[in-house]
Amino acid sequence: MNRFFFFIFLIGFLFSQTPTLSFHIPFCWSFQVHIINNLTHNNLVIHCHSESDDLRAHELRWGDEFTFKLGQSPLKNTCVWCNVTKFGSNHIASINVFTKGLADHQCCKTKQCYWSASDDGFYFGNNNKTWTKRLDWY
Ligand SMILES: *[C@@H]1O[C@H](CO)[C@@H](O)[C@H](O)[C@H]1NC(C)=O
Ligand SMILES: *[C@@H]1O[C@H](CO)[C@@H](O)[C@H](O)[C@H]1NC(C)=O
Ligand SMILES: *[C@@H]1O[C@H](CO)[C@@H](O)[C@H](O)[C@H]1NC(C)=O
Repeated sequence: MNRFFFFIFLIGFLFSQTPTLSFHIPFCWSFQVHIINNLTHNNLVIHCHSESDDLRAHELRWGDEFTFKLGQSPLKNTCVWCNVTKFGSNHIASINVFTKGLADHQCCKTKQCYWSASDDGFYFGNNNKTWTKRLDWY
């Protein structure tokens, strides 16, 4: 109930601001995140968690994906982090696979967030065809 009244208050507050204020609640509140192993010679071990959930460790062979659905709304600011490691290596890469920024600006159009772990780093896309390199392993 508190959240409900806060939301009403927030809407009221935003509409009481200058009429030129353009403000945007994205109409995409449900997402699917995919993390794909695209390493040529290694299995990938992935362990993701949010503030409230531990999605446990999974080992992926080449071409496999780990995928999960989650909700996001103006009242709920879900973030998901994953520890990713090449099988047999003790270096852990830590990536934010889902944040409010990614949800609103990148994944909203397709409601999908794709990550691909490759030999040279991590690629991101909101579909599985167009990719941009985002991070290195080290
Ligand atoms: C991720 O790695 C960090 C640093 O090694 C560790 O503190 C944290 O507990 C790990 N989280 C998970 C979910 O494995
Ligand atoms: C997958 O891996 C290959 C070989 O390293 C690389 O050329 C390609 O860009 C990678 N694709 C993605 C989406 O990560
Ligand atoms: C790419 O995504 C489409 C639909 O989102 C799916 O049908 C297809 O199997 C995916 N391809 C790969 C290689 O994951």
